[in-house]
Amino acid sequence: MSKIKAAITGVGGYVPDYILTNKELETMVETSDEWITSRTGIKERRILKGENLGVSYMGAMAVKELLAKTNTDPKDIDLIIFATITPDMPFPAAANLVATQVGATNAFSFDVSAACSGFIYALTTGAKYIEAGMHKKVIVIGGDKMSSILDYTDRTTCIIFGDGAGCVLLEPSKDDTGIIDSIHKSDGSGAQYLHIKAGGSLKPATHESVDAREHYVYQEGSAVFKFAVTNMADIAAKMMERNNLKAEDVNWLAPHQANKRIIDATASRMGISEETVMMNIERYGNTTGGTIPLLLWDYEKQLKKGDNLIIAAFGGGFTWGSIYVRWSYDTN
Ligand code: UT7
Repeated sequence: MSKIKAAITGVGGYVPDYILTNKELETMVETSDEWITSRTGIKERRILKGENLGVSYMGAMAVKELLAKTNTDPKDIDLIIFATITPDMPFPAAANLVATQVGATNAFSFDVSAACSGFIYALTTGAKYIEAGMHKKVIVIGGDKMSSILDYTDRTTCIIFGDGAGCVLLEPSKDDTGIIDSIHKSDGSGAQYLHIKAGGSLKPATHESVDAREHYVYQEGSAVFKFAVTNMADIAAKMMERNNLKAEDVNWLAPHQANKRIIDATASRMGISEETVMMNIERYGNTTGGTIPLLLWDYEKQLKKGDNLIIAAFGGGFTWGSIYVRWSYDTN
């Protein structure tokens, strides 16, 4: 009996309406459109405004679009996994809230916390339930409301991130397409360079921690950059090598959108041309768990059945990895 593969059979996405441009950031912190564009490739990012809207709202909006596009009854969903570091609250999981909002009453659901690599960790996890023959329909969401953990007086972090969520439907593949291979890595010694100082069990919230602005993202950008640029390129190259893929065999690279310079270095290491690199960092910035599903959402119409996609990510933890997907459908 041949092994069951998990196929991505649909994509959904949601980005909030409000556009925070580099120009507007110039009025908030000492920065410039020129600095942000040349150092990161970002021109604007989306921000979720409004009362009582957490990340589950964006996840649910993305899933509702996915269900409509794929003509799927929410009651047929077996499992929902949400990759996020900005759940509505420490518990319950954002995935639980999404399941209820979309009417997935027969699904069980949980979150995955792996920062910018969260979506790829969750995608592999979801795929394993399909490959094991345990489930037929799994939804994997990636998304973050980064604006809820950013210090808009800190120019080194607030210019990078944005809000958004995307998702995919996984089903058993009917042919040789689907998720072919995954490699995942993590290294907790990288935590010192990118973390939130307070609000966890190590340092619960106090008046002092709030006054010291310790509930926001702390990042030593150039240290993270060095690890990201090497590890994301290395792992994408390793994925090609162990699947005997040459540059001309790769139809698309779907890289985490942290910095255009990291993406360019990864593409160059893989020997692939610029046209094969999915990119939307200029419009959304770094949406953490959201970047990769939002790329698939933006590029879905250009993808063809049988296309070889290499997904690669690097983020807080440190966490990093790569997934090789043979695309399973033509949109039209
Ligand atoms: O997705 C999760 C993983 N995260 C990443 O992969 C992020 C990786 N890191 C980066 O993308 C980059 O390090 C940043 C975009 C965060 C920063 O770019 P950089 O080229 O590494 O800049 P830097 O931190 O080395 O700072 C260079 C200079 C500094 O000034 P001095 O000390 O040279 O006078 C900063 O103070 O740029 C200054 N600077 C800014 N200037 C204008 C830092 N942020 C800004 C800003 N506007 N927003």
